[in-house]
Amino acid sequence: MNNWSRRDFLEFLGYSAAFAGAVPALNSCSSLDPRYLRFNKIKPISPTTKDDLVLAEGFSYRKIISWDDPINQKEKFGFNNDFISFVPLKEGEILMWVNHEYTNPIFVSSMKRTRDNIIKDMKTVGGSIIHLKQTHGNWSLVKDSKYNRRIHALTEIPFSNGQSIMGKKMVRGTLANCSGGKTPWGTILSAEENYDYFYGERIEGTKKITKSLHRWETQFYSPPEHYGWIVEVDPFTGKSEKRIELGRFCHESATVAQHPNGVVVYSGDDKADEHLYKFVSESNTNLNKGTLYVANIKEGQWIPLDIEQHKVLQKNFKDQKEVLTYCRKASKLVGATPLARPEDIEVHPLTGDIYVALTGDPPSGNYYGSVMRIKEREGDYHSLHFKADTFVTGGPQFGFSNPDNVHFDSLGNFWFCSDISGSKMGKNHYKSFGNNGIFVVPFAGKNSGKVLQIASAPNDAEFTGLCFDPDENRLFASVQHPGEMSESKKKLTSLWPRDGSGMPKPSVVEINSFLF
Ligand code: FEO
Ligand code: CA
Ligand code: CA
Ligand code: CA
Repeated sequence: MNNWSRRDFLEFLGYSAAFAGAVPALNSCSSLDPRYLRFNKIKPISPTTKDDLVLAEGFSYRKIISWDDPINQKEKFGFNNDFISFVPLKEGEILMWVNHEYTNPIFVSSMKRTRDNIIKDMKTVGGSIIHLKQTHGNWSLVKDSKYNRRIHALTEIPFSNGQSIMGKKMVRGTLANCSGGKTPWGTILSAEENYDYFYGERIEGTKKITKSLHRWETQFYSPPEHYGWIVEVDPFTGKSEKRIELGRFCHESATVAQHPNGVVVYSGDDKADEHLYKFVSESNTNLNKGTLYVANIKEGQWIPLDIEQHKVLQKNFKDQKEVLTYCRKASKLVGATPLARPEDIEVHPLTGDIYVALTGDPPSGNYYGSVMRIKEREGDYHSLHFKADTFVTGGPQFGFSNPDNVHFDSLGNFWFCSDISGSKMGKNHYKSFGNNGIFVVPFAGKNSGKVLQIASAPNDAEFTGLCFDPDENRLFASVQHPGEMSESKKKLTSLWPRDGSGMPKPSVVEINSFLF
């Protein structure tokens, strides 16, 4: 902010205390940072169904890496890339972490569920660590860097603090890695979301397990309780562990807010009528000890999921580890609020408010979703009290639907991606939206508060993993599941990125623009 601190900025706006609540956006002010004024010049695109990555005037993109690209002599970049984060390595070089959420046997192996095909699938989920180097502003893979490595569904991963779940201290791999976060001590948090797609889900209180979508249980045995955790990864070594302390559910994200007495990690459970959580660590250097809370939105209260504090939990669970393993059940017993699929979460860099994408729940009539804003009492992330309101609502009149991945730049401009599912895109309630897109809501200037579409995705794809490079010169984005509705390799619905292979390929891109 041109040598302006957040406090200067809030005082300039008439707020003397930090985190004083919503900051009113300015419409015109000659002393406003000139970078805000660039957002006045955006010419948003109209929705389109073109099978391409379409961008607003003055924006361009470059592909960095695609599924199946070798990252070293033995390993290849995974499928359906999602969350992106990085740590600096040295000037102009970073180690990037990319989640690989799920696979598509049509492209990766075959629908035949043989052991070999399932092993192929298993090697395409999890995450990639890739060393990137910048040349003339553009980022490229350093092939065969000693840092490049895959972590996937066959990588042995321990639980945190030497604990065990279902009698095992070690787990077969990580999967369903959707969004995530980064800690102040430089580790990556990768969120295991729809784990039930791979080995099924336990039918509550029984030994029975549901049939999964990918049918991995036909060739490998892993209990569902080994998945649905936050995985903490050291990007320099690949050392990983599953963090029992943060609870088990369909974790969409793991967004870290800093606090002098211990970091806080916010995470949503992306399923209709599930909940919003925060983990308050007792430390600023690790997540070993702390308390997991779940939100009662109506009362504005964070309720501790602590067996010591609730008789009803003592009655239903044998110990705290069981509470953390079956968070969904525990949350309902203590009065958590059901939400319309909480997805990605970000902290506003200037106001400190927490923004939560609620992507919607069509069966209950919530077709378009919204973004909820949480204001912790006195801006204190350890507070047990908060207020919630709605920042933006989707709908044909607002030009977007189903917000999912969200991101702030350092100026407080809000970037987000839509996720209309492939089966609904262009139909019924969703006709007017075209393909999924990237949108920005400028924080200040004449476009402040407006939702502007700046990108449209190839057919069936969604953008995910928005993340700016260290100097905010490029916006990294994942293009996930292009051509997902293809019936076979012979009947493809997308050919993006048109790399000569004749196949659609999930890819990471960098976007350049006059804004950055
Ligand atoms: Fe993986 Fe909820 O999106
Ligand atoms: Ca998502
Ligand atoms: Ca995000
Ligand atoms: Ca989604």
